[in-house]
Amino acid sequence: MAAEADHAYDVPRPATRATTENASAKINLCLHVTGQRPDGYHLLDTLVVFADRMVADQIAVTAADRHTAQDTLRVTGLFGDALDDGDQDNLVLQACHWLRAHAKCDGRSTPPVSITLSKALPVASGLGGGSADAAATLRALVSHWQLPDNMIKDQESALAAALGADVPMCLYGKTLRARGIGADIAPTSNLPALPAVLVNPGQPVSTPAVFGALAEKDNAAIPPCPAGFDNAPALAAWLDAHTRNDLQGPAMATTPSIASVLGNLEATGARLARMSGSGATCFGLFDNVKDANTAAEAIANSAPSWWVRATTLNATGARQ
Ligand code: C5P
Repeated sequence: MAAEADHAYDVPRPATRATTENASAKINLCLHVTGQRPDGYHLLDTLVVFADRMVADQIAVTAADRHTAQDTLRVTGLFGDALDDGDQDNLVLQACHWLRAHAKCDGRSTPPVSITLSKALPVASGLGGGSADAAATLRALVSHWQLPDNMIKDQESALAAALGADVPMCLYGKTLRARGIGADIAPTSNLPALPAVLVNPGQPVSTPAVFGALAEKDNAAIPPCPAGFDNAPALAAWLDAHTRNDLQGPAMATTPSIASVLGNLEATGARLARMSGSGATCFGLFDNVKDANTAAEAIANSAPSWWVRATTLNATGARQ
């Protein structure tokens, strides 16, 4: 019996299972700036889609080591060096603190956690990576702490104010149209899946600087959208003819490599080549997955220092 007990004691305890969530890249198919609030925030009208889960950061949450009284953040992955472990300004830790404060009011138990962010998306790149990481953290923590879903549902205004205007749309995680400062979300289900190539030239872009450089703030909203689109080329043609990214001009003025990225996407046959968000990542829309893969390979070969990914946007109309 004693030997059996010793043996049982020696068996390593199984590692605590991590709760993981993907933080897919967010793409603004178009981004119209329609005004500015007195507090400086801009009013937007934007159609947003998400990349498939192969083009995503990942959040993993486990219970903190029992000697650790604090939440910790470790950053790994291709772009992990761009961020500091444990940086309190990281939206991941800010999301964690926001949710804990929120849960405390509700008398919920939220013991310390250890969070790992695997950073696969370029930083400050117009893909909403930081916001997607915050949203994935909220989802993972709701699951880990076994909180009710309404802790983070229907909290758009509070989340936008506390964590940033793009966090609510990343939390929603499916194709949408957003207005206001980006937090007024309307689900959009009439878009086809879009084979695409994403390209980032490796230069971080400051979102406040790009908004600040926009000369004309009162621009036309997105015009009425057809009830549906037969296929990806039909949507690409409509976007090209009727929509814009108003931040593309100001971003190109400070980051000339954006023009070069757009030129490469056009040269490889994109139906539409446009910048996402405040840049510098651009997307090209292609007729099919094969064409997108071929273009991605050609661009990666011609510019080895660029980040190039083939993906399908709005792959299932559902969160990846
Ligand atoms: O909300 P978030 O912190 O992500 O925004 C970063 C910056 O981008 C803001 O400080 C602001 O300068 C600019 N911004 C804006 N209008 C928006 C969203 C962001 O001017 N609707």
